[in-house]
Parts: sequence; structure tokens; C-alpha cells
Amino acid sequence: MSRPRINWGILGTGMIARKFARGVALSKSGIPKAVASRDWDKCKDFVGQLQDWSGVNHSFDDTDSFGSYEELIRNPLVDAVYIGLPNHLHREWTIAALRAGKHVLCEKPLALNAPEAEELFAVAREENRILIEAFMYRALPQTKAILESVQGGVIGDLRLMRLNFTFNREASPDDVRYQAENGGGSLMDVGCYCIDFARSLAGTEPVEMSALFHQHEFGVDDYAAGTLAFPNDILLTFTCGMTVTSDQTAHIAGSEGRIEIPRFWFGEEGFTIVKPDGKTVETKGKRKASQPVYALEADAFADVVGGAENWNPPENTIGNMRVLDELRAR
Ligand SMILES: NC(=O)c1ccc[n+]([C@@H]2O[C@H](COP(=O)([O-])OP(=O)(O)OC[C@H]3O[C@@H](n4cnc5c(N)ncnc54)[C@H](OP(=O)(O)O)[C@@H]3O)[C@@H](O)[C@H]2O)c1
Repeated sequence: MSRPRINWGILGTGMIARKFARGVALSKSGIPKAVASRDWDKCKDFVGQLQDWSGVNHSFDDTDSFGSYEELIRNPLVDAVYIGLPNHLHREWTIAALRAGKHVLCEKPLALNAPEAEELFAVAREENRILIEAFMYRALPQTKAILESVQGGVIGDLRLMRLNFTFNREASPDDVRYQAENGGGSLMDVGCYCIDFARSLAGTEPVEMSALFHQHEFGVDDYAAGTLAFPNDILLTFTCGMTVTSDQTAHIAGSEGRIEIPRFWFGEEGFTIVKPDGKTVETKGKRKASQPVYALEADAFADVVGGAENWNPPENTIGNMRVLDELRAR
């Protein structure tokens, strides 16, 4: 397996696009080739600020700015497109980029529902391009180590998972997270991580599920709590929220121990295995400061383009969307 160099084109100049652009510049394989915004001046400013940023491996000096997404995806120098746009635009721009012959890394959740996700992977197959939903925590060495530990029986038989992903940020009707028609709400924004991780840990799809949603005055769920039951006697409880003090902990309990993770999606603190006598046997998996999350993600994407096993295969994304659909339909 060889890791190709990837010329990245980044759609959008929002919060996560900035983080990903920096990640590309710090990655081993990625070149920040182009950025596009709906507004060319905004795009120039964005790239200018990145040029001033110290700490890059690959500079932004040669990064092109585009005043439309269409122009960027038509650029023959771009190998892969990163879609850092609001959820309701993922489908349109993923299809456009794939049809233009680009590989695509699209932010989570990949689509507004499972049929849309299926459609996007069908286009990727037709175009023979890689399409990955950017659940970046899946690209962390920590996540792989936890999955291997659980599957290897380090905590005996997996029984209970308690996964939480909440943050607290000022609510605004201008924020797409608060726009129901655009795929907003806490389940879609961060609850999706809990569902994704739980399904991977259980190694199968849930057979029963339920959720309670608190409705914000802007018309979306701003926090929620839910349960999933898996056919192999494993249960999940999860919480998610956008107006709640930050809690991103995971507790994974089995018949012979448990695993505690302070921030399961970021990998800064690693994870701890606690045995039944209460003794901590190991803390491992910490991400090094030299391994920024989004740089790891960009390199992991390049690996898949180069032929490595996909760390977020289509069937996982589609399965996750099906659970999100079912929970929201209740
Ligand atoms: N993986 C992660 O760690 C992570 C973290 C946060 C968010 N996300 C995901 O990333 C995506 C973007 O989230 P974000 O927090 O970066 O959002 P954001 O800060 O609001 O940025 C979204 C960008 O999309 C563009 N855009 C195009 N049409 C838009 C519209 N109608 N309304 C608002 N923006 C529009 C804008 O860029 P231009 O004006 O320049 O075109 C805007 O800056 C979402 O899918 C979210 O779920 C992922």
C-alpha cells in the first residue's frame, strides 16, 4: 500500500473547514491546493489568514481562492474535495465533485437520511472514486486500539455503553445547527458520533431503539437522550446536546472490566482500562501533539485512495444514517 500525495480542494470557509485546512497543511500527504467560498473576498481573507499561520508543513502560499464551489471542483489540479458545508448541502456538492472525477471527504452526517447516503455511494461506485464520511475520530489510532481491545475480550463480554457528546454554544437561528429543514439538531450534529461508535463497538446493528428529544424554541432538538439494544445482549445509553455543558465521555463496560475515555472523539487523553478489582491496568492510545486530528484524517483518507482498508466504509455510514432516521421518526 502506498500513500499518494493529495491536492485538496476545500469547500466552505466555516469553523471546520479552517480546522481541516490546517490539518491538511500539517499532514504528511496533503497539499492545500484550493479553497472555495460563495464569496471570493471571504475566500481570499480565509486563505490570507491561513498564510499568516505559523506551524505549517505545507504552506498556503500557492493555495488558490475561488468565489464559487463549481469553479473549484472543475479545477484539474484538485485530486480530492473536502466538503465542510452545512448538512443540507452535502448531497448536492458530493455528487457534483464525484461527477467531476474527484475523491470526496464529506463532513458528518454524510446526508440528510439513509436513502440520500445510498445514492451518494452509488454515484461514487459509478465514478470509481473514494467517498468517505468525515467521522474523523474513526481515523485516530486510539479508536482502532479501543475497538481491538474490546473485540479481543479485554473487558470480557461487552454489556453496557454510556456515550455522551454535548457542548454549550449560544443558540442562533442563523446557525444551521438550529435549522430543522437543513439537517439541524443535536442528534444530527453530535448524537451521530455516539450512535456510530456504539454500533462499531457492538459490531452489529441495533434491533431496538428509543430517544427523547428536548425541543428548542428554534425548532430543533437542542438536547436528547436515547437507548439502543443490540442483538448480542449489548445496550447503549447516550446523551447529546448543543446547550449543555461539555461532556464527551465514554464508558464501555463488560463482564470483566470497563474502559473509560475522557473525550472519545478527540483522542487527547487516551483511554483507561479498569479491571473488576478497580485497579487501572492501562492508560493508552494518547494522540501525540505532533499528530493533529485532521492531519491524521487527511493522511488516513490518502491511505484509502492508495488502496488501504477503509476506516469508514459505506455500509457503516448507511447503517448509521438508518438509525438516525429511525430515532428521528419516533
Ligand atoms: N468533524 C468535525 O469535527 C466537525 C466539527 C464541526 C462541524 N462538523 C460538520 O461540518 C459541517 C460544517 O459545520 P461548521 O461548524 O464548519 O459550519 P459553519 O461554521 O457554519 O460553516 C459552514 C460553511 O458553509 C458555507 N455555506 C454554504 N451555504 C451555507 C448556508 N446556507 N448557511 C451557512 N453556511 C453555508 C459557508 O462558507 P462560504 O460562505 O465560505 O461558502 C460557511 O462558512 C457540518 O456538516 C457539521 O456537521 C464537523
